[in-house]
Amino acid sequence: MPDSDKVGMNYLANKNIVLGVTGSIAAYKGVMLASKLTQAGSIVDVIMTQAAMEFVSPVSFQGVTQRPVMVDLFDSAQSFEMEHIALADRADLMVIAPATANTIAKIVAGIADNLLTCTVLATKSPLVIAPAMNVNMYQNQVTQNNLYKLWERGVVIIGPGEGSLACGDTGVGRLAEVEHIIEGLHRAIKKDNDLTSKRIIVTAGGTQEPIDPVRTITNRSSGKMGYALAAAAQLRGARVTLITAPTGLVPPSGVQIRRVETALEMREAVLEEVAQADALIMAAAVADYRPSNAVTSKMKSKDEMVTLELVKNPDILGEVKGDLIKAGFAAESDDLEQNAIQKMRNKGLDLIVANDITAPGCGFGSDTNRVVILDADGGREELPLLPKSQVAMRVIDRLARLLNTKSREWESRTETAC
Ligand code: PMT
Repeated sequence: MPDSDKVGMNYLANKNIVLGVTGSIAAYKGVMLASKLTQAGSIVDVIMTQAAMEFVSPVSFQGVTQRPVMVDLFDSAQSFEMEHIALADRADLMVIAPATANTIAKIVAGIADNLLTCTVLATKSPLVIAPAMNVNMYQNQVTQNNLYKLWERGVVIIGPGEGSLACGDTGVGRLAEVEHIIEGLHRAIKKDNDLTSKRIIVTAGGTQEPIDPVRTITNRSSGKMGYALAAAAQLRGARVTLITAPTGLVPPSGVQIRRVETALEMREAVLEEVAQADALIMAAAVADYRPSNAVTSKMKSKDEMVTLELVKNPDILGEVKGDLIKAGFAAESDDLEQNAIQKMRNKGLDLIVANDITAPGCGFGSDTNRVVILDADGGREELPLLPKSQVAMRVIDRLARLLNTKSREWESRTETAC
C-alpha cells in the first residue's frame, strides 16, 4: 500500500463513517471499501438502497463491519424512523460508493425518499461521492450538470474511472479504485480540499505535427508529468480539465479530458477552456515548429534527400491573457534557472517549474523528476528527485498558495470598495 494511503487510514481511525451503497454491479467493491475502513479502525454504518440489495446481500456488509446494516427508512422491524437523524448527526464523514445517476440526481434535487437520501439531506458532515454507471449515462448532460452542482456545493467527487464496463461498453463510468476512494475520504476528513471552488486546466503530452497522413514531428513527452498534476489537483477538490496530446496513459478518474493532436488544436482548446478557469498549468511539450505544408497523401520515399519547411507554432502560454494564475514548465538542458526565469518573464507567468531534462531520472518519459519551482515574486523551492506524483503534489501546493492569496486580495479589494 502506498504511504499516502497509510496516512489516510490514520486519519480515518475512530471516525464514524456512513457508507451509502446504491444499485450498481460495482456494489461488491463497496464491501471491499467497508472492509478496508473497518480494518483502519473506522466505525462503519452501511445504508443500502433497495436496488443495491439486488447486487449484494446486507449480510456481506454486516460480516465485514460487524454492525447492523440499514436498508429502509420505514422498516419498522429495525425501527429506523429517526435513525437517519441519529446517523446524520453522528457521521464524521459520509461516502456513497457506488453512487448511481439516480441517487446523484435525487441528492441534487433534495429528494429524500429512502434512508440513504434522507441521511444525506440531514447530515452536516463532508460528503464524498464515487459515481459508477454506463458511459452514456455518465456523459449525459443532465448527469454532468448534477455532478457539477454537487461539486459546487463542496461535495468531493472521486472518479469514475475509464475502462470496460459491466454493460459491455468501454469508456468512463467504472467505480474508482478502493484506494483512490480512501484517498478522497482522507482528504475530505482533513478538510484538505483547498481547491474545491477552483477550476484548473492542465496540458500534457507531446503535440504531433503532421508531415503526411502517416508521419508526424513529435517529441519524447509521455504525458506522465501532466497526468500526475491533473490527478493531484483533482484530489485537492479542483474541477480539472486535462488537455492532452496523444499518450498511452489512462486518464486520472474524475478529470475531464480533451484530446488534441497538434499545437494549433492545443492552442484552440486552451484558449477556450481558460475563459472560465482559475489556473492553467502547461506541462505539455508543445512542438515549437510544424511542417508548413502537411500533404494529404503519403510521401513517396524515392528521393535521396527531402527538405521539410517548418513554420513556428504560436506560443500558447504567451497568448493566454486574463485574471488567472499561469504556470509553465521549462525543459532545459543548460542554464536551468536562468533560462526558466527568462521564460517566466517572456510568457508573463506566475510560476515556472524548471526541469533539467538531461539529468538522470528527470524530464521526458521517466517516472521521476527533479525540479526547481520558481515564482514571479522571487520564490524558489528546489525539490530532490521524486516520483512525478509527488512533484505534482508540491507544484499544486505552490499553486494553491498563489490561488488563495489571490482570493484574499480580491476579497479585501471588494470589502474596501463597499
Ligand atoms: O510528459 P513527460 O514524459 O512526463 O515529461 C514531462 C516534461 C519534461 C514534458 C515536462 O516536465 C516539461 O518540462 N514540459 C514542458 C516542455 C516544454 O515544452 O518546455 P519549453 O521550455 O519548450 O516551454 C516552456 C513552456 O511554454 C511550457 O510550459 C510549454 O508547455 C509552453 N509552450 C511551449 C511552446 C509553445 N509553442 N507554446 C507553449 O505554451
